[in-house]
Amino acid sequence: MYTGILSITVALASVIVILKLMAVARHNRQHLSRLQDIDRSILSGLSHKGVMHAIMDRLTSALRPDAAAILVVDKQHSMKTVISDNLSNKFNDLVGKINNGFFSSVLENRKTLNITRISEDEGFLDTIRNEGFISYLSAPIIAKGGVPTGVLTLYSKKPRAYTKQELTLIDSINSRIGVALDRAQLVERIQEINIESVRALAEAIELRDPYTIGHSIQVANLAMSIAQELEFSEREKNLLEFAGLLHDIGKIIVPEAILQKSSVLTDEEWRIIKKHAVHSAKIVEPIKNLRSVQNWIRHHHEQWDGSGYPDGISADKIPLQSRILAVCDAYSAMTGDRPYRKALSDKDARREIANVAGKQLDPKIVSIFLSLDLQIHEKGKTHKEGEEHVDIEAKA
Ligand SMILES: [Fe+2]
Ligand SMILES: [Fe+2]
Repeated sequence: MYTGILSITVALASVIVILKLMAVARHNRQHLSRLQDIDRSILSGLSHKGVMHAIMDRLTSALRPDAAAILVVDKQHSMKTVISDNLSNKFNDLVGKINNGFFSSVLENRKTLNITRISEDEGFLDTIRNEGFISYLSAPIIAKGGVPTGVLTLYSKKPRAYTKQELTLIDSINSRIGVALDRAQLVERIQEINIESVRALAEAIELRDPYTIGHSIQVANLAMSIAQELEFSEREKNLLEFAGLLHDIGKIIVPEAILQKSSVLTDEEWRIIKKHAVHSAKIVEPIKNLRSVQNWIRHHHEQWDGSGYPDGISADKIPLQSRILAVCDAYSAMTGDRPYRKALSDKDARREIANVAGKQLDPKIVSIFLSLDLQIHEKGKTHKEGEEHVDIEAKA
């Protein structure tokens, strides 16, 4: 009888052990699958934001904290929240500001800190407790070359000690966050180099005509301000900046004798100059990442009423970005000196632009443009584009 009960007990204990082992194996498989998902999102070419969302998604579904955040050390050496889950912007700002010393110690020691229960008098942790969190974890994110880059923070409303298995998962996720941050920095640097190179190229081309120096940069800056008002994404703004810098690059094929001519142009010279929009588009055509930019550049001299070139399209048929460039281009042209007249004042140029709204220029873009504070832009840049804004110039 006793032996029988013992056998049943042993058998039950074995079943429990097996079930526990199966649960651990299932958890391990789930964790591995989540890590693989994160790896795939990093390698998939998703945007940095997309990768961070994928990481946060897998992280919260695996560990189920009440809130979480990824913070990085920014260029000013303070902590900035990159992404958070279930935390307010106000809280994120506050945590970044007041917890600098705390995060520094986590980063310096390169060790995960798990406060199971925040006690009453732990100074800066009061902010966390005031949000209703009792438990807190902060784990260092180490980037390539062993550089501490940020911290992963997890918050719980109940006392929580993370298991060894969970801490291992956090370590694995953090190493992936480190890779994603490295990748984002690299992409940012490449973009900076791209913009710097394109700006240098635009300036080099403008050197052929002293009346156009600084024009492309001014057009790009103005266009970015309009894009900001229209709430373009960072990617859209970035592309529009390229378009502003490259819109007149086709002038490279226009002979200097025509570009620098101060007297009236012949019909043939006009024809050559007008080709620059198509040539600008052709020059950027082989650059795969600038496909959309190519079209915006081609149409930067189209007019709202269809009287522009090269295709004579009108209104909404003209790409929005081309309509933005057209307004900025007109302003830059009018506020630059000419061989035959001085630059218009900001006030006069704005009045001229308002006069042609709904005729040559998109009235909606003109109204946004007129609401901009142009003090932030480089002023006094010279430009010779009378040939491109005939009607506006005729009024000037
Ligand atoms: Fe142009
Ligand atoms: Fe231009």
